[in-house]
Amino acid sequence: MSLRLCVIPGDGIGREVVPVAVAVLQRLLPDLLVEEADAGWNCFQQHGTSVPESTYERLRTCGAGLFGAVSSPSHKVEGYRSAILSLRQTLELNLNLRPVRSRPVVSPRAGIDLLVLRENSEGLYSGREHWEAEACERLGAGAAELARLRHARRITLVHKANVLPLTCGLFRDTCRDRLAEDGWSDVLDERLVDVAALQLVERPEAFDLIVTTNLFGDILSDLASHWGGGLGLAPSLNLGANIALAEPVHGSAPDIAGSGRANPLAAILSAGMLLRHYWQLPELADRIHDAVDAFLREEGSVDFGRETTQLIGQGVLQRLE
Ligand code: NAD
Ligand code: IPM
Ligand code: MN
Repeated sequence: MSLRLCVIPGDGIGREVVPVAVAVLQRLLPDLLVEEADAGWNCFQQHGTSVPESTYERLRTCGAGLFGAVSSPSHKVEGYRSAILSLRQTLELNLNLRPVRSRPVVSPRAGIDLLVLRENSEGLYSGREHWEAEACERLGAGAAELARLRHARRITLVHKANVLPLTCGLFRDTCRDRLAEDGWSDVLDERLVDVAALQLVERPEAFDLIVTTNLFGDILSDLASHWGGGLGLAPSLNLGANIALAEPVHGSAPDIAGSGRANPLAAILSAGMLLRHYWQLPELADRIHDAVDAFLREEGSVDFGRETTQLIGQGVLQRLE
């Protein structure tokens, strides 16, 4: 049976980088069935909803999705909610994997290979300071599975339990117990989020798997993306049970939208995460990594002015042949 992909370009540069990532997936999976769906701020303005019911249905049937980015105003708009938050919550995409790796040319330092595992539905994002025991259990189980997959040399639980002892305390204790049960006690430690931010700046190579709450994961993943070459190279995957939505960490970048300058590598690497974690095709995911690294080594830049999106896309496709 052919694999299916639901594509949601969204707003701004989402519409520019997603087609490039889809072309990369189609090069590796010629039989992939691609279906497009609508979501975001433009969609809200046209249809009065940021995620139409048909988009949820399409994503559920496809199982795998690729999301670009959406715009959200920083003030309250009656009836509007960020599409990505609704998708994560409604489809129970409870985990968000945000890896950062040193890459040739664009990374300020070699030797970094870390994963921020972000809880995706709770914490301050639920609109109140609130934590479900079930969300902590799911996160702990996800952390144990990812620790096994990456042979974790260190697992750091990042929280603020000194100020939020009930919520962050529940997160920390549940994850710690679950990881201990799976035999990870020797490499397990914890940090308060403020000092974790400092240490991610000072010595990023000391981190491997970082497990954290929703808001802290949002902030720390942007910070850590610096070490992988910035937001233009930072991929992520929202993961639920039998469903996954790949999504670059960056937003709709209104400052460069329409200029041709958006780097599509974050979207391409996000598509690679679908291959690795959802379709279980790690060899194809490795081919994307190799093509991206070869492109960076050989071209020595990710800035080609107005031709950036196009030339990077072509360059990666050529190196997949
Ligand atoms: P942003 O990530 O859109 O942009 C931050 C900076 O990084 C900008 O200078 C932008 O030009 C640059 N940048 C981002 N991606 C890039 C790429 N691929 N190539 C080159 N440069 C890139 O964050 P922001 O400016 O804080 O937010 C803009 C809008 O995006 C807001 O409406 C926000 O709500 C939304 N947003 C959406 C998502 C999402 O849909 N997942 C994520 C973050 C922000
Ligand atoms: C992200 C974004 C979203 C978040 C916004 C757009 C709601 O910043 O995916 O990192 O905060 O989760
Ligand atoms: Mn963010």
